[in-house]
Amino acid sequence: MEVVNKYVSLKHHVDGYPSESDFELATTPLQPAPGSGEVIVKNLFLSVDPYQLNRMKRYSSSHTAITAASKIEPGQRIDACGVGKVVASGRAELEEGDVVAGLLGWEQYTVVRPGTVLMKVDAKDLPISYYASVLGEYSLHLHQIKEHKKDAQIDAMIFLTTATGPSGLTAFAGFYDVCKPKKGEKVFISAASGSVGSLVGQYAKLSGCYVVGCAGSKQKVDLLKGKLGFDDAFNYKEEADLKSALRRYFPEGIDIYFDNVGAAMLEAAVANMNSFGRVAVCGAISEYTNAGERAAPDLIDIIYKRITLRGLLSVDYLHLHEQFSAATSDHLRRGRMIALEDVSVGIESVPTAFVGLFRGDNVGKKLVRVGELEG
Ligand SMILES: NC(=O)c1ccc[n+]([C@@H]2O[C@H](COP(=O)([O-])OP(=O)(O)OC[C@H]3O[C@@H](n4cnc5c(N)ncnc54)[C@H](OP(=O)(O)O)[C@@H]3O)[C@@H](O)[C@H]2O)c1
Repeated sequence: MEVVNKYVSLKHHVDGYPSESDFELATTPLQPAPGSGEVIVKNLFLSVDPYQLNRMKRYSSSHTAITAASKIEPGQRIDACGVGKVVASGRAELEEGDVVAGLLGWEQYTVVRPGTVLMKVDAKDLPISYYASVLGEYSLHLHQIKEHKKDAQIDAMIFLTTATGPSGLTAFAGFYDVCKPKKGEKVFISAASGSVGSLVGQYAKLSGCYVVGCAGSKQKVDLLKGKLGFDDAFNYKEEADLKSALRRYFPEGIDIYFDNVGAAMLEAAVANMNSFGRVAVCGAISEYTNAGERAAPDLIDIIYKRITLRGLLSVDYLHLHEQFSAATSDHLRRGRMIALEDVSVGIESVPTAFVGLFRGDNVGKKLVRVGELEG
């Protein structure tokens, strides 16, 4: 079977803010090599994630930190997590028509090579898009990890695929393992209406915490306070002095800060932390676009208030997966949590969807629907 594949690639490395003109669309025919064990997946939902920008830079220290963060070269196809439908299979365990999740790409079809984890999605009661967003493909890796613990190649593939994108495990592990919440504690979350932030806020409310989020528009602030049940929220773009803004929202101080943005917001949060406060350093999106922007939190505060600042990568938390998946699926089914998704349509919309992350266009997890399940 041969298909014509449209894919997105970089025209050149991107240092600073990305723009649509940094990307181009190309077309190529795809065909699995007979007897190769390759699978062709027709992509349905693709994940669009801020960390990809660091991969697109000429240089970032993240390039060599983990395989999943490796540099993307101009012209190369861009891998990304997603959900798709098998249209040709060279693997005994997969049939045409199966819905699968795994490391796919910013393209209409992906040829998945042997050894790359592709897991069947059985999403009878939850939308399949969740397997590219809140539930990611993590749920689909756990039994592989158990079965293939000693298989270095599979381990490497799991490492590669699980470190990409999906927000649920990041939010869950970052909040429960790094922040170690206690009922009644005061929690602050930046980029709170985004993919990770919106989930952290909901876990925090379910844990009995007092939760304040910040976001970049009135519409987002209203959503946090209304639909997501945050105790309070504010538009950080309207605050000239972030330290005093946080003092207003947290007159008794912050116990937990879940940091998605870095820079000035991290400094302001540290200045307002209580003794023995915990900061989960999940992302630093405001620094991704600006090499000159660096957080300089007051170290005297950190020492004398005995604050813990800890970076996290979701890939380190696969052992929490079963717990995460069971709890989160249950919350979603019972309506105790909402998975916010922001879906664009068509492969041509991938560059705009990606660039929009850095303009604050998205509300919740940014996905692109590039194909239909039927047909
Ligand atoms: N450590 C991990 O394993 C891991 C995994 C996934 C994601 N992350 C990180 O977590 C963070 C959130 O990721 P996500 O996927 O959930 O993205 P997201 O929050 O859904 O989307 C990005 C949001 O960031 C905000 N933003 C953009 N530029 C900003 C700036 N200069 N200052 C402040 N806010 C800005 C925008 O919202 P506003 O309108 O509010 O500005 C935008 O909507 C990112 O830093 C990402 O790299 C880490």
